[in-house]
Amino acid sequence: MKITVFGCGYVGLTTAVGLAEMGNTVIGIDVDPQKVAMLKDGIVPFYEPGLQEMLLRQITEGRLSFYTDAKLGIESSEIVFSAVGTPPLKDHYADLSAVLNVAEQFKFYAEGEKVFINKSTVPIGTSDKILEIIQPKISLKNRFQVLSNPEFLREGTALKDFFEPDRIIIGTYGHDAGLRKLMKKLYRPMIERGVPLVFTDIRSAEVIKYASNAYLATRLSFVNELANFCETAGADIQSVRKGVGLDKRIGTHFFQPGIGFGGSCLPKDLNALIEMGKQSGFDFKVLDAAQKVNLQQPYRIIEAVKNVFPNLNGITFAIWGVAFKPGTDDLRDAPSLAIIHELLRQGAKLQVYDPVTIPKLRKIFEKKLSYSQDYYSPLQNASGLLILTEWEEFRNPDFGRMKSFMKEHYIFDGRNIFDREDVEKNDFSYYGIGSLSVQRKLKSKRSRVKLGL
Ligand code: UDX
Repeated sequence: MKITVFGCGYVGLTTAVGLAEMGNTVIGIDVDPQKVAMLKDGIVPFYEPGLQEMLLRQITEGRLSFYTDAKLGIESSEIVFSAVGTPPLKDHYADLSAVLNVAEQFKFYAEGEKVFINKSTVPIGTSDKILEIIQPKISLKNRFQVLSNPEFLREGTALKDFFEPDRIIIGTYGHDAGLRKLMKKLYRPMIERGVPLVFTDIRSAEVIKYASNAYLATRLSFVNELANFCETAGADIQSVRKGVGLDKRIGTHFFQPGIGFGGSCLPKDLNALIEMGKQSGFDFKVLDAAQKVNLQQPYRIIEAVKNVFPNLNGITFAIWGVAFKPGTDDLRDAPSLAIIHELLRQGAKLQVYDPVTIPKLRKIFEKKLSYSQDYYSPLQNASGLLILTEWEEFRNPDFGRMKSFMKEHYIFDGRNIFDREDVEKNDFSYYGIGSLSVQRKLKSKRSRVKLGL
C-alpha cells in the first residue's frame, strides 16, 4: 500500500518506519527541513531503541523516504496519516493548528479515493473539524474518508508497541464495508497475530485515547498516594502493592510507586481531559485528585532527604537518572526536574549522571549542575545518592566502591530499584518510596552520628 505520514516525531516516525517494515511504500513528511535532512541520512533525531537500525534498513531497501513537500506526500498515497504534534496551549487545551493545516493541505491536493487517518492525540470533536475542512471537496470523483486511529505507543518501547499493540482502535463515520476492509488489510500482520481490531464511532475513538492515559495516570497517583500512606502507617508499599496487585482484577503491572509520572503524554492528556470536561461543564473529580497527587509527589523524596539533612545548603548529592523513565532521553514533564530545581533552590550541590540526557540537561541547567560520564563519578564526596530514573545499569552496583567515594552513606531511592536488606547489609542507610520505618532509622542513625554515638 502507498502511505504518507505527516509529522516525523515519536508517533509519526515510528508509524512510518513500522509501516515500511510491513512492506508498504511510505513517505514521511515534516515541515522541519533539518529534521527531514537528518532522516534522509538515516539519522533519528531523538533516542528510541531499535528505530535507527530499522529506519536505515527501510531507506536502503527503498520503501521509506522523507520530504517537506506536502503536495507530493498527498498525491502519492491512498492513505494519509496525520501524526503531527498537538502541544498544550496555556489553557491546557491542545494546539490543533498543525493537524488542521494537514487537513487543509489534504483538501487542496487530494484527488480521487483517499483516506485521512488522524493519529495525533486530539481533543474530542477534532475529527469533525477535519471533516468540515475536507467536506467541500468530497464528490463522486473525490471520495475521501476521515478516520481516527489513536496511538498507544510508549517511549523506549515504541517499535515493540507498534508491532504488538494490545488493540487497534479505528473510529469511523458510519459503517463503510470497503473502509473496514482497507483497515483490515493495513493492519493484517497484527490482526493475524491476534491483536483485536476494534471499530467505533469517531468520538469514542477520540475518548478512548484520553481515557486510557487518564486511567494510567490515576492508577499511578493511587499507588503513589498509597505509598505515602504506607510511610505514615509504618507499612511497606512493596509488600502492599504485591498483595493488592495479585488480585487479577488489579494486577501488579504499571503499579510501581515513585517520584510521580511524567513524559509527553500522561500529564498533558490528564490536564487536557480535565479541561475538556470543564469546558463542557463536566467536573472530573477523580482526575482532578490524580493530578494534584502527581504535582506533590516529586517533593516526597525531598522531605525524606530533609529528614536527614534539615539544611541542604552546601551539601553535595549525587543523582542517578533524570529521564522521565528509562529508555528515553525525553525530559518533558520529568518529575526529576522539579526535584533538581528544588534541591538547587535550597542550596544543595548536585552531581548528576544519566546515560542519555546529559546534553539536554546542560542546556537547561548549564553550570548549575556538575555532570558525569559514568555513575560512580558523581558519588565523589557526596553525602547522599538520589535515584530518579530506574535505568537497568543502576540495579547491581558495587556498593563497596560506591561507599569508598561517598562522604556519608545515604541512598534515597525514588524508584525503589534496590532491595532494602541488600543495601543495608552494605552499611548504607536506605530510603525507598513508601516505607517510613526505614525513614525513622535514617533519621536516628544520623542523629547518632552527629552526636558521635
Ligand atoms: C504513555 C502511555 O503509556 C502510552 O500508552 C501513550 O501512548 C503515551 O503515554 P509514555 O509517556 O511513553 O507512554 O510512558 P509510560 O511508560 O506510560 O510512563 C509514564 C510515566 O509513568 C513515567 O514517568 C514512568 O516513570 C511512570 N510510571 C510508569 C511509574 O511511575 N510507575 C509505573 O509503574 C509505570
